[in-house]
Amino acid sequence: MSALPWYEDVSPGRGTLPPRAWYARSDASALSLNGDWAFRLSPTADTEDESFAAPDFDASGWGTVAVPGHWVLRGKEYGGPAYTNVRYPFPVDPPRVPTENPTGDHLRRFDLPADWPAGGGAVLRLDGVESCARVWLNGTELGEFKGSRLAHEFTVGHLLGARDNVLALRVHQWSSGSYLEDQDQWWLPGVFRDVTLLHRPAGSPGDFFTHAPYDHVTGHGTLRVECDVPGRVTVPELGLDLATGESVTVPVEPWSAEVPRLYEGELTAGGERVPLRIGFRTVAVENGVMTVNGRRVLFRGVNRHEFHPQHGRALDLATMRQDVVLMKRHNINAVRTSHYPPHPAFLDLCDTYGLWVIDEGDLETHGFEDLAWQGNPVDDPRWTPALLDRAARLVERDKNHPSVVMWSLGNECGTGAGLTAMARWIRDRDPSRLLHYEGDRSCADTDVYSRMYPPHAEVDEIGRRADEGPERRRELPFVLCEYAHAMGNGPGGLADYQRLFETYERCQGGFVWEWIDHGLVHPVHGYGYGGDFGEELHDGNFVCDGLLFPDRTPSPGLLEYKKVVEPVRIADGGPGTILVTNGHDVADLARLAFTWSFLADGETLATGPLDVPAVAAGASTRVALPVPPSHPAGAETVWTVRAVLAEDTAWASAGHEVAWGQIPVSGPATAPRSVTAAAAHPVRPMRPVHEAGRITLGPGVFDARSGALLSLGSLPVAGGARLDVWRAPTDNDEGAPWQPEERHGPLWRGLGLHRMRHRIDEITWSDDELTVRTRVAPAASDLGIRTTYRWSADGSSLRLGVEVVPEGDWRVPLPRLGVRLGLPAALDRAVWYGAGPGEAYPDTRAAARLGRWEAAVDTLGTPYLRPQENGARIDTRWVELTSRTDGVRVRGDRAFSFTARRWTTEQLDAAAHATDLVPGDTLWLHLDHAQHGIGSQSCGPGVLPAYRLDAAPASFSFTFGPAGG
Ligand code: GAL
Repeated sequence: MSALPWYEDVSPGRGTLPPRAWYARSDASALSLNGDWAFRLSPTADTEDESFAAPDFDASGWGTVAVPGHWVLRGKEYGGPAYTNVRYPFPVDPPRVPTENPTGDHLRRFDLPADWPAGGGAVLRLDGVESCARVWLNGTELGEFKGSRLAHEFTVGHLLGARDNVLALRVHQWSSGSYLEDQDQWWLPGVFRDVTLLHRPAGSPGDFFTHAPYDHVTGHGTLRVECDVPGRVTVPELGLDLATGESVTVPVEPWSAEVPRLYEGELTAGGERVPLRIGFRTVAVENGVMTVNGRRVLFRGVNRHEFHPQHGRALDLATMRQDVVLMKRHNINAVRTSHYPPHPAFLDLCDTYGLWVIDEGDLETHGFEDLAWQGNPVDDPRWTPALLDRAARLVERDKNHPSVVMWSLGNECGTGAGLTAMARWIRDRDPSRLLHYEGDRSCADTDVYSRMYPPHAEVDEIGRRADEGPERRRELPFVLCEYAHAMGNGPGGLADYQRLFETYERCQGGFVWEWIDHGLVHPVHGYGYGGDFGEELHDGNFVCDGLLFPDRTPSPGLLEYKKVVEPVRIADGGPGTILVTNGHDVADLARLAFTWSFLADGETLATGPLDVPAVAAGASTRVALPVPPSHPAGAETVWTVRAVLAEDTAWASAGHEVAWGQIPVSGPATAPRSVTAAAAHPVRPMRPVHEAGRITLGPGVFDARSGALLSLGSLPVAGGARLDVWRAPTDNDEGAPWQPEERHGPLWRGLGLHRMRHRIDEITWSDDELTVRTRVAPAASDLGIRTTYRWSADGSSLRLGVEVVPEGDWRVPLPRLGVRLGLPAALDRAVWYGAGPGEAYPDTRAAARLGRWEAAVDTLGTPYLRPQENGARIDTRWVELTSRTDGVRVRGDRAFSFTARRWTTEQLDAAAHATDLVPGDTLWLHLDHAQHGIGSQSCGPGVLPAYRLDAAPASFSFTFGPAGG
């Protein structure tokens, strides 16, 4: 058979310059070639010949495409995006790719600016092209390359003219490189990062490497800038002026993610002055713990893919900055650039704002796992040059960023000699950082033990260094490069992980999977996910598993994470005091201001500043609270103490809340536990009155045959106020098919919890109570729940006591346990006293604080891209739902969860996209005694035992009265 075409051979390419350090700008001229390019799409690699690259080619019949961009996001006529997680979307026969290989020919004509310097040379830089490109300038072929998220450069000075230059690119969607880029994300071909022409003055640097270690014992930094040409390095702030290659040691302030101290410098060589941004820091493993500048660091991290709902992986600087600012505002201090080097400007932002970075190579071969790793490129020497090319392009481009503290070989490639070769190369080139790769459990090639999604118990064991495994591994620090799968509602169990990270010094934190939902704007569905763009093979909404919604609105999961990883802990310090613990890696508390407020029954009675000394990182202090203000006897009272930024920072203004704590003072007046009417709230018991098929009891009217509540005062009631145990399963309830543990979503549905029948056994009434005895059970099962409703009333309020007794051998927990009723949709405001302001479940409730909250009913829900259970408000004491003219207040004898939405659980469950949910004329109110936890089983562990809602006898009660009561 003839030789393979270049895009199918395993080589990384030819004609490119050696990789080198990236910098945003220097005083050398540069011309951005971003903008509208002429574009022609062909269905195969060879539909068209190469004559388009000739300077006189007439492309007037072509369309255009935006660079940077992905042509598949331009609409159906350009093909479409495709999402697969692990599976390759083409037959696996490396290095061959399908004949159907969408091919985009790109043309850009340009003149040199009038002030473009005459001498020197020029370089063409392409920062990212998926999946490969062949490049011509003015009809001369420059070469070709693979490696989508890596920069490639060509020498072009000798080919440039002052006017009418023609740059031609041929881009194939599939290449041998696609086998190395099987990351869990959309397949998005195109020239998706910048294209730039750079003037290279005579004698200017080809490459340079800034070395800036910090000695925390002496407080000195040592600076040495290696450069391939002689030059000088100046750092005015430090009074430094030295030759390249020379080293100097001076007292400096170190760089850290918390205090990102950068020194501005300059490298001058030949006719170019390149700005340097120097951060002094030393990364090490000492006694099995990772340190930076001698201090243990704790990663409060996220995995970040580059994503924009309209532009795919073509991100502008404003979006990158938005990501960084959002991370800083949510107490995130670390990013893993899953699973490829990001746009290089992102790392400048990490240096500036302060984030620890694991910079990952553009490498994943996960699709070979299902093939027992047969043919895996990382274990086949023919591919080693391509792997080494990827390692070098990662390290050389990004080596001057102080934020980068670890290099990661790639993700989910199994094991193989190719990875070892990459590790060797990287260690040799840059021994100043740690090496990361999760896929090799022997840790032979890594400096940290890294895992994804281990259960809490295993993290505990690893933390105690009680884990089995190779000797070398047991001496390494431990990180979770992925944990807490943020798909849909959740992740649950974050606080439980954080406790382990804060207990064991070996556990140095983790990186939540992942930062943002990859929902792409869709003409019908609002945001589309896998399968919405006509893919024949796809993995559905598994691509929507982020802490941000696609439009970058924080999800409840991000708010939870912010609270869980807050760097200051505020706790009860004993009578009249709080205990403040500084959990920062290095910063003291001087940048924070503290305030207190005193709440009685959710109302803030007084607030004031609180003096907290600037305790050092890792230290604690006890602080006295003021004398509590006078408050109503019997009120539930609580201190709220907040830590806010004392001054403006680059990422948030003064007053931005960083941490908070609540310290209860006196609990709610204890409510009677009995569910019998006599012992409970109604003070003047009323007598049920039976007339014309109706039973009237205070403000309640019931159907005499079914016991269903028909109205409450002036409000009609739908659905009867009946027991409800079903919730629209969350992605975490559904779990991932490969999970070894039981998955509750499928078990619940299998059992029929979504189609419970309510058998009426008996309706009786006495002088002061209406009793309805029922059995609630699914068809085809002998499991059931005996449910007794006891209604009683005084003049204006109606009380419901519910007793449940499960029957049969219940082996699965219940999704929820409560009642649901339908009220008029005109009730559009909610006010409640309980935990808020956002949604919360038993294992996602750290961010919910006690208070009095108010919201429009339409804002109570969370629009997860695949609709599912959402919007519960936990620990509610009472809730009021009101229209302009009417309203109802529900009080629980004990704290409960409430959920209010304009569609039923059945409608929620049936919806595939948020746009399927259309408000009806009923407001469905769920009053839950309890809900099952959320967990993280869409990719990680399920609900921890403490948060399970096991079927067990229970009783609970609610009192309905007029609003304002
Ligand atoms: C991991 C993988 C990620 C992502 C995640 C699930 O195994 O590294 O890329 O697929 O699972 O969302």
